Amino acid sequence: MSFIGHNIDIAAELLRRGEAIAIPTETVYGLAANALRIDAVAKIFRIKQRPTFDPLIVHVANIDQITNYVVEIPAPLRILAERFMPGPLTLLLEKKPNIPELVTSGSPYVAIRVPDHPLTLSLLQQLDFPLAAPSANPFGYISPTTAQHVADQLGNKLSYILDGGPCQVGIESTIVGMAANGEIHIYRKGGLPIEVISEIVGHVHVRDHSSSQPDAPGMLTNHYAPSKPFVIVNTVDQIPRQENVGVLAFHKFVDGIDISKQIVLSMQGRFDEAAQNLFAGMRYLDNCPIDIIYAEMAPERDLGIAINDRLRRAAAK
Ligand code: TXA
Ligand code: MG
Repeated sequence: MSFIGHNIDIAAELLRRGEAIAIPTETVYGLAANALRIDAVAKIFRIKQRPTFDPLIVHVANIDQITNYVVEIPAPLRILAERFMPGPLTLLLEKKPNIPELVTSGSPYVAIRVPDHPLTLSLLQQLDFPLAAPSANPFGYISPTTAQHVADQLGNKLSYILDGGPCQVGIESTIVGMAANGEIHIYRKGGLPIEVISEIVGHVHVRDHSSSQPDAPGMLTNHYAPSKPFVIVNTVDQIPRQENVGVLAFHKFVDGIDISKQIVLSMQGRFDEAAQNLFAGMRYLDNCPIDIIYAEMAPERDLGIAINDRLRRAAAK
């Protein structure tokens, strides 16, 4: 069993010894280890049962530290970094040789971000190495947004879970990079809305996910999946009123279905609140006495774009 606590000195000591521990971020909990040590990074892949073709995001304390691990930050991406770091933004940048190929799955690019969580920022400031950290869930399952979620699934494989409370954003970071021709690409829809990014850098290309192309970042089609069948609908009228049905609704309860088998993501229809509640809601329903989960799509804008992306992937089997 892992110990759940708030002590960053214990967390730092374990990380210095090359262990993997769970850490809070504003997006989801991460499974962290010293990004510069191959033996430590290998533990992450082993604990998560993650294929090594799926690269890891590197976490640092500030933008200055990013420059220790990348060749350069192109001007438009630097503007985004200065505006949104710390925050739910990950930049894909050409790596320096000090980042091991195991971290990037052999790619010359590293995904790097500054998480906006006070505990993890102080932890990173104490360390003289960056942390590689994927979401702290078994590969393919729903990402954890509380320390208890991590304990439920990986508790017997970790010595420590640093508890920073429930994640404030609730959905993974948006991954952004720049192509050789200067175009800005979004590789994963996430906690920083696309509209906010394009307001600053102009037009962006949104890469769509594809299971046949796992080298496109974070883009495996079947991901974030509960173990129960998961079906997405555009309107709640499409949901059969049956006893064995659970509902993940965007902003109101569905008539004709037991309330205890329903999760409403935000009664006010707020995107930020809906994103915060999304993964916990999926987990709750996955553990309800039902046979199938119906999920209502969010409006396709703002954080609704990332929410719908997770719903579509949870439904892809
Ligand atoms: O919000 C987040 O980004 C969270 C927290 C813990 O920081 N982390 C996270 O990590 O979502 P993970 O491993 O669950 O998803 C990272 C995605 C992977 O699917 C991977 O394909 C992509 O980022 N990625 C990481 N490094 C990459 C690289 N060098 N090139 C292309 N894609 C990369
Ligand atoms: Mg993940």
